[in-house]
Amino acid sequence: MGYRVVVAGATGNVGREMLNILAEREFPIDDIAVLASARSTGDEIEFGETGRMLKVKNIEYFDWAGWDIALFAIGSEATAIYAPKAAAAGCTVIDNSSLYRMDPDVPLIVPEVNPQAIDGYRKKNIIANPNCSTAQMVVALKPLHDAATIKRVVVSTYQSVSGAGKAGMDELFEQSRNIFVGDPAEPHKFTKQIAFNVIPHIDKFLDDGFTKEEWKMVVETKKILDPKVKVVATCVRVPVFVGHSEAISIEFENEISAEDAQKILREAPGIMLVDKREDGGYVTPVECVGDFATYVSRVREDPTVENGLVLWCVSDNLRKGAALNAVQIAELLGRRHLQKAA
Ligand SMILES: NC(=O)c1ccc[n+]([C@@H]2O[C@H](COP(=O)([O-])OP(=O)(O)OC[C@H]3O[C@@H](n4cnc5c(N)ncnc54)[C@H](OP(=O)(O)O)[C@@H]3O)[C@@H](O)[C@H]2O)c1
Repeated sequence: MGYRVVVAGATGNVGREMLNILAEREFPIDDIAVLASARSTGDEIEFGETGRMLKVKNIEYFDWAGWDIALFAIGSEATAIYAPKAAAAGCTVIDNSSLYRMDPDVPLIVPEVNPQAIDGYRKKNIIANPNCSTAQMVVALKPLHDAATIKRVVVSTYQSVSGAGKAGMDELFEQSRNIFVGDPAEPHKFTKQIAFNVIPHIDKFLDDGFTKEEWKMVVETKKILDPKVKVVATCVRVPVFVGHSEAISIEFENEISAEDAQKILREAPGIMLVDKREDGGYVTPVECVGDFATYVSRVREDPTVENGLVLWCVSDNLRKGAALNAVQIAELLGRRHLQKAA
């Protein structure tokens, strides 16, 4: 016996990837509904690569009663309207927006890091999925934290345009084409030209000069991994379609060598270590697209601090950063609480 599953935002970047991953991982499904706004009601989308076509329904008129799990990827504004309705009807919401992440009554889960925290989900019947950059970083940090206790993290991100939804991908494509044919490359979605450029700004500016994306990496890492870990982030948008990269400097309480870290990371759940210390012996974003793993490369000791490491971390932001993590949460929920599947 399987679940009755809803994917809200099924026409978007993350929603489509959720359908792919539910199909790839053979999530036990008895019935599936795909929702979006009035804009795409009636459109047909494929359930992964199964050949099964699903008709998009308007979320406004959807009856949530009798559905077990809803994977949400519709942005904070629409989530604020529909997540409480779904949750009140008994359908557990796993949300990708930032709306509930810091709510003390909502667990924020990365299954490789804090699976036990899911037990608090009943307070609101909602579980939050972290920001894409946080998700891959905490997967890499967790086994190292367990081994040598992390004190401080300094991270610079290189985030792909798909993190800004379909519109971000369209803007990179169109600007690149326009530049090649000599047409103007006006920014619309991003604040400056993204094609052949990098932009040190994601989400809105806060009073202290950091951006909200940078703030999210700080507070979400504390909530998921350990409130004692200090984090400072610089988040940068780069002209890559899919796949976020991060250069991470880590200071530890205890001694840990690069060799120890490599051994630990090689065994850690969710991680693929590719670290050959030679030309091409590392992973780049185009190579991680469509994969489940969080890749770690270029692990080395930081000679400027007492116990420090530096590493490179790459993952498919639409997968581990969003859709895969959400499906893993659904699997965890099933195992620990719903126990309906065979
Ligand atoms: N992209 C990432 O790397 C990433 C990572 C983590 C979290 N997230 C979060 O995931 C969510 C979706 O992101 P995305 O990248 O998939 O965006 P996207 O490609 O722009 O897709 C947005 C989806 O939301 C639907 N939608 C928008 N407004 C709606 C409304 N009022 N009612 C119902 N459906 C509505 C759209 O449906 P229509 O077709 O009807 O417009 C579409 O299916 C956002 O909250 C985002 O912050 C994204």
